[in-house]
Order: sequence, then C-alpha cells, then structure tokens
Amino acid sequence: MQRRMRLVSCLFLSPVCQPSVGGIYTVIQTKAKITVDEWGENYYMMGPYFEQNFKTQVEGCEPPNPAIRKAMDALIHNGCQVHFGRWLIEGSPYVILFDIGSAAWNLDRWKGDLWQTCSIGLPYHDREANDSLILGSLIAWFFKELTDNLGDKPNVIGHFHEWQAGAGLILSRSRKIPMATVFTTHATLLGRYLCAGNADFYNNLDKFNIDKEAGERQIYHRYCLERAAVHCAHVFTTVSQITAVEANHMLHRKPDVVTPNGLNVKKFSAMHEFQNLHSTSKTLFSCSSDPSHKTLFFFIAGRYEFSNKGADIFLESLSRLNYLLRVRNDVTVVVFFIMPAKTNNFNVESLKGQAVRKQLWDTAHTVKEKFGKKLYDALLTGTIPDMNSILDRDDFTIMKRAIYATQRHSLPPVTTHNMLDDSTDPILSNVRRIGLFNSRNDRVKIIFHPEFLSSTSPLLPMDYEDFVRGCNLGVFPSYYEPWGYTPGECTVMGIPSVTTNLSGFGCFMEEHVSDPAAYGIYIVDRRFRSPEESCNQLTQFMFSFCQQSRRQRIIQRNRTERLSDLLDWRYLGRFYIHARHLALSRAFPEKFKMDPMAPLKVSNTVQTRD
Ligand code: UDP
Ligand code: G6P
Repeated sequence: MQRRMRLVSCLFLSPVCQPSVGGIYTVIQTKAKITVDEWGENYYMMGPYFEQNFKTQVEGCEPPNPAIRKAMDALIHNGCQVHFGRWLIEGSPYVILFDIGSAAWNLDRWKGDLWQTCSIGLPYHDREANDSLILGSLIAWFFKELTDNLGDKPNVIGHFHEWQAGAGLILSRSRKIPMATVFTTHATLLGRYLCAGNADFYNNLDKFNIDKEAGERQIYHRYCLERAAVHCAHVFTTVSQITAVEANHMLHRKPDVVTPNGLNVKKFSAMHEFQNLHSTSKTLFSCSSDPSHKTLFFFIAGRYEFSNKGADIFLESLSRLNYLLRVRNDVTVVVFFIMPAKTNNFNVESLKGQAVRKQLWDTAHTVKEKFGKKLYDALLTGTIPDMNSILDRDDFTIMKRAIYATQRHSLPPVTTHNMLDDSTDPILSNVRRIGLFNSRNDRVKIIFHPEFLSSTSPLLPMDYEDFVRGCNLGVFPSYYEPWGYTPGECTVMGIPSVTTNLSGFGCFMEEHVSDPAAYGIYIVDRRFRSPEESCNQLTQFMFSFCQQSRRQRIIQRNRTERLSDLLDWRYLGRFYIHARHLALSRAFPEKFKMDPMAPLKVSNTVQTRD
C-alpha cells in the first residue's frame, strides 16, 4: 500500500532553513531520516527557494517521478521558478523549492483569491505573511497539477507545519484537491505573545478574548491563517499535551494527535564514549583539565525570549546561588547564555582575553616540550636530572611574561559582543541589577554570547553539540515552551538539565519517567508555585548539583544518558505515522480504514534503576 502512496511534506523552510531559528529547524531536519526510511523516493519536502542555501545545502537533480516534473513544469511555464534536489542532511530527502520572488507579481491577485476563499486580508507591510501567501498559492497550484497528473491511482498526503505554511493548506482544501492533509503547530501564535507579555497565561486560558488580543498585537491576520489552517486540516497535531490544551483554547480545536519531538540518537560502540567526549569538549573551552574539579559549567540556549525562556528566574537564582557558594561551598560556576541578539561583532576585550589564554596554553606546551626533551636526554645517560635546574632562565622569562599578560585592569566582560541595545537589553539590565560582574569574589561568573555557536567563530570555535557535551548542566527554566529541544539534546548526550512542568519536554518526562531527578532531569514547578517559590526551587537544584562530587556527577551522567531511547525518532516517529494514517482514513474513508487498535499508547515508562 505504502509504495503507491506519495507523501508530500510541506514546510516553511524560510526561516526553517536557518539553524538560528531554533527548535523548528531541529524538528524538520532530524525527522527527515526516519521519514525517508519509511517512504523512500515518495517523500518530498517543500519550501521557499533561497539561492545561497540551495548552493550550499542542496544537490540539484532531476525529479525521479515524471508526475512531479510535469507539475513543476506547469508552474515554470507560467513564469514561476521551482527547483528540485536532495537536501544534504541525514536521510538526503528530496526537496521541491519555490522561488517566491519569481512569483511575487501575482501577489495582488492571490490576496484577492484568499479573501474570496476565507475573508482573510493581509496588510501590505507584513512581508512574512505576504511571502507565506505566495508560497501557499504556489504549493496549492503544484498540488492541483500533481493530483491531476497522477489520476486516481496513488494518494497524496500533505503535512503542513506552522502558520507560515497555512495558506497552502487552506487553498488546497478550498479547491477540493484530492489529498489528505495534516497541520502541525509547534506553538500557538497568541500563546507565545501572551506569555511574553507577562500574562498569567495558564490560569486564564479560558478567559482571554482571543480575537481582541490578536488584534491588539497586530497579528490578527496571521492568527486567522493559523486558525483557518487548523480547522481545514483533516488531522491537527501539536507537539505536547500542554500545547494541546493551549491550542484548544487559542485555536478552538482539540489536536487529534500529539506528535512529540524526537532526535536521532547516536549510539557509540564503546558505552562510555560520551563521558570521554564530555571531558575532551570541556577541556576545549575551559583550556584546562581542572584537576581541582571545582569549576562547573552551566548554560542556557535558544531563541532570545527573556521571560518565556525563564532567563529572568535563572538570573535571580544565580544571584542566590552566588551567595550560597560564597558562604557554604568552594565551587565556581561559569554560566553561558547563548541567545542571539543584535550585535555588531565581537568586542575587543573578549578577543584579547581569548588570545591571552591561548598564549598561556602555548607557553605551557612549549615549556613542557623542552622539559620532556631534557628529561629524556638525562634518562638516556642513566641519570635523574636535577629538577631545580631543568628549566633555564629563558623558560622562566617566557612563563612570567605569559602570567603578566593575564593580569587585567578591568573585570572580564559579561558579554562577548558589542551589543546594539546594550542599555535596554534584558539580560544585561538584570546582570546590572543583581551585580554579577565577574569580580574575583563572585563564585558565579556570567558569559553572555549573543549568537549561536559555530566552529568557525574566532572566540568559541566549536559547534553547539561539542559545547553542550563539555558543559555540566543545561538550565532551561521556561515559562512558555511548547516542547523545548535543548534539555532533550542534553539528555541524549548524557548531560543533566533543568526543565519545567510548563514545557512539553518536562511534562513528557514527568509522564514517562518515574523519578526524573534521579536521572538528572530536574523539573522546576512553574505551574502551581509563585515565581518566588520557583526561584528558590531552582536555586536549590543548582546548589545541590554543585555539592556533588565528580564521581557522583559521572554516575549521574550515565543515568541521564539511559533515557535517550525515549527521545529517539525511532520511537517517537510512530506518532507522525499515526497522524498520517488518520488523515488518509478521513480523506479517503472508502479506501483507508483506521485500525482502532492503532499504535498509540506509550507504554514503556522508565523505572528507576540503580
Ligand atoms: N541551537 C543551535 N545552536 C546554538 C544554540 C542552540 O543550533 O548555538 C539549537 C538547539 O540545538 C535547539 C534549538 O536551537 O535544537 C533551540 O530549540 P528549543 O526547542 O529549545 O527552543 P526554541 O529556540 O525553538 O524556542
Ligand atoms: C568524564 C571523563 C572523566 C572526567 C569527567 C569530568 O567522565 O571520563 O575522566 O574526570 O568526565 O567530569 P566533570 O563532572 O568534573 O566535568
């Protein structure tokens, strides 16, 4: 049956093609592999064409299927550009990419069509919404051609992600194109806005006047696209139970299926390889193997939504942790904030600091080499050299010079870049308020890196995965987090993390693991406690983490890593399969009957083991 079906997954690759948009990119990119494994040559991903991305990430080729070629040609002959190739990621899925610019001359007409179809009007100044309409119109047109070419034999499923892909779904359905449709929201537009505005969101879910709220935030048309897509789809899904409840209130449809986000879990042949990787990565950015075990690295990462991501309570808890460590412990905690903000490049002070550390490291190596050679020469002659004279005056000179170079007249800077909005930036403003300026006496040091990591960066030249592996604890105390990849990514790399019972991931773990904290998943209660109480709980989690010995941390990492299978697409992919089957049974009830016993209870709750 499956060989004759054609799955066309439609997603909005525009910001999705850029890793800097965060979680949505990770879902689309990691899910490709299992979907290709299931559908092979019948799986196509669709999105907008960007020349630069196409050149660097896609291998152009001819579509293997004549019906696809013909449908593309129909658009091309009408003056719109469509490109085809294989996206060079795991699974190498086929991609069909539509050039929005080449079709922009149709915009006014297509706005009229949208208005005729569902009375949604798009303002001229919202470029993203206009682009999404052009893309959606091209996609609906493509599906029309494709299904005409295919006749009534194979079946097409279109899976649309996010409101930006909504127009394609709405138009396909209103034109009665014979295909099954799935729509997935990875958050709701209104939910994100309302939470960011400090509303007591979860206690008032049923009380918001949603049309009014959307209008006041000037997102009414986007919100209408999202809501219309939700209601047009044969099957509506979202990424977690908590977002399902939110969607029910914000979009007035209960999701049919919850499709949690997975990852492609890497299994190493040596069981403890991930522990070695932790150690090597940590050495990379700490430039030392820290024999005292007394420096720990914490981090938070993701899109820069200050209160949604819980950066507010994190900073407050860090100031409390600083106090506790000063009076009761001898650990130093270095905390990284990896959240993209507007900057104009690295600041000189950070680059200088990096150069000085490198010089120290190089000096140590040079002296070590000389020491080693002299020792070897002495041993060759059968003598143990006099340790006091093995290093000469020059060696001492270069070592002293390197030490003097590390002396500084100002405190190490909090931020690595020149910030454009330095005075109003919420992280920096709060750092000023709590006074954590990296002074010698502070036991909590802060480094704000307002850009996603990259192995080509001169300052912190490593990619995100290596960075996470080298840290000791990820801290993600989010208030609004439909799923939240970052703690899951920590888990599969064996790095403990803090999450909350308002994040999809945190709720999923609470549901499937009997004692998450025992596995290095600390869940802050942000649902039933006041912000002050949540802050105390977070401080306590971090403080008790600092009290562990290295041995205890190693054991804890082993336990964390054991949860990986639960987050693997090989397991979580079943929810997407279920959603597609359900859509087929609703679109083509005479051909596809849904097995009522279909796959769906997650049964393997992980029990605490020692
Ligand atoms: N991420 C990244 N590079 C970085 C920091 C983060 O690629 O330097 C990715 C990370 O791997 C994760 C995503 O950004 O997949 C953040 O996703 P999450 O679901 O936690 O939050 P979002 O940013 O979508 O709100
Ligand atoms: C891994 C390595 C150990 C190293 C440890 C550091 O477990 O195998 O050799 O000592 O990491 O752990 P820590 O928690 O201190 O970063």
